[in-house]
Amino acid sequence: MSKSFMHSLIPLPKTYRKGEGKFLWKSSLSISVEQGGESDSDPSHLLSGWLTRRRSDLTCEIVSGVSDIQFACSSELKDEAYRLDITPDQIKITGGPSGWVRGAAALTMLLESDGWPACQVEDEPQFAWRGMHLDVSRHFYPIRFVKRLIDLIALHRMNTFHWHLTDDQGWRIAIDAFPQLAQISAWRDRDGESYGGFYTAEDVKEILAYAEERKIQVVPEIEMPGHALAALSAFPDLSCTGGHFRVSNTCGIFDDVYCAGKESTFAFLEKVLSEVCSLFPGPYIHVGGDECPKTRWKSCPDCQNRMREQGLKNENELQSWFVSRMGRFLQSHGKCMIGWDEILEGGLPPTAVVMSWQGIKGGIEAARLGHDVIMSPTSHCYFDYRQSTEPEEPGNLGIIPLETVYGYDPVPEELDAEAASRVLGVQANIWTERMPTWKLLEYMTLPRLCALAEVAWVPSEDKCWDGFQSRLEHHLHFLKEMGYTYRHPLRAKREFPL
Ligand code: ACM
Ligand code: ZN
Repeated sequence: MSKSFMHSLIPLPKTYRKGEGKFLWKSSLSISVEQGGESDSDPSHLLSGWLTRRRSDLTCEIVSGVSDIQFACSSELKDEAYRLDITPDQIKITGGPSGWVRGAAALTMLLESDGWPACQVEDEPQFAWRGMHLDVSRHFYPIRFVKRLIDLIALHRMNTFHWHLTDDQGWRIAIDAFPQLAQISAWRDRDGESYGGFYTAEDVKEILAYAEERKIQVVPEIEMPGHALAALSAFPDLSCTGGHFRVSNTCGIFDDVYCAGKESTFAFLEKVLSEVCSLFPGPYIHVGGDECPKTRWKSCPDCQNRMREQGLKNENELQSWFVSRMGRFLQSHGKCMIGWDEILEGGLPPTAVVMSWQGIKGGIEAARLGHDVIMSPTSHCYFDYRQSTEPEEPGNLGIIPLETVYGYDPVPEELDAEAASRVLGVQANIWTERMPTWKLLEYMTLPRLCALAEVAWVPSEDKCWDGFQSRLEHHLHFLKEMGYTYRHPLRAKREFPL
């Protein structure tokens, strides 16, 4: 029996040794956290919340001293690594603060109807970046839904939430300096009704605290220079033509983008990014950079002036100049810039991290140039694409079945060892043009997220599609008990959620 059939953990742990017997189910469990180490982290409430969400007939008591489940400190294990020891008498999760959370996720998943199988798990991730993106512009989702996704990320031992906060169809983060963004840019006219919403600074703080408890980094994205119609609707003077604009109610790529020639554009974006930098504690800020038509720039006197002044040969170089300027600004705020792979066009800003979405070539090029890269190609990582060829299958454009996601290897084989070390990891994207409800969004995301989690956590050579499928069968019960909607890979007849 292969190790992958002995348990239903997704992603597959590095080592799993079966023990003797079981820690038998009891309806009341005590949890304690060993004091010590340099952190005051306390994962006991998180674990208690996850376990009681899974089994509503369970109560957990947080205690000090002897307990059923003990979190024990270790300074030897690497960041996010953990050890899980389950015997018939006690359960022990050993690690640092983030290892505790990964171990708590594994323990939540391992629960069977009559308790926990005795075992010893030693585990650590393959990739440092294990991400999920969420587009809240095309549809706005209240924070209780965002939290559901963050829980999914954490339960699958992933660690990054990329929050796509602005786009043509809506600006979703309130900015103190520009109240018009929440008043105007967050709303679009849909059949005569105002449709949209935005997150307040308090909402953002609530999400950040929720993510921090789960040791998930949150990466905000503020799109520029393209995908800017929502912002331009409130601030038309930041465009090349002066408007008039409306927050878009249709999908697509729009010609009206931020003017790269006007200083007011940079004054605006720098104020926005200053607030974003002080709100989000993480090291990364994503500035988009994708799908920016150069139509307006070509006929804008200000943009053409800028090109002459800066000695830029074409509009691609103007975009590179734009993005580089923002990169320097972010760097002066102690932040590192990420952009979609179009930021390679016209010259890659020196400090940028590249997110490779148009296939893998952007990632290859950037890694060879010595930049960090995150792989997120449309061929494997776009969860807005349909999951099957079934005629009623919801989704966009292409088809990305579960097996395709599972088969992805984030490190392009073209890279030598040095360039390969630049691949931070992998991320899937949830673009929501066709996901007006959260239920449908979960259906599109699951179980593909489970496959992606394994791609991100497990060395490529240890993956096994048959083993994954077998574990997934059990895992679907877990998802169901946790209250998630998913696409059952085998069910012939489907009811598509709206
Ligand atoms: C993208 O899908 N436009 C990054
Ligand atoms: Zn212009």
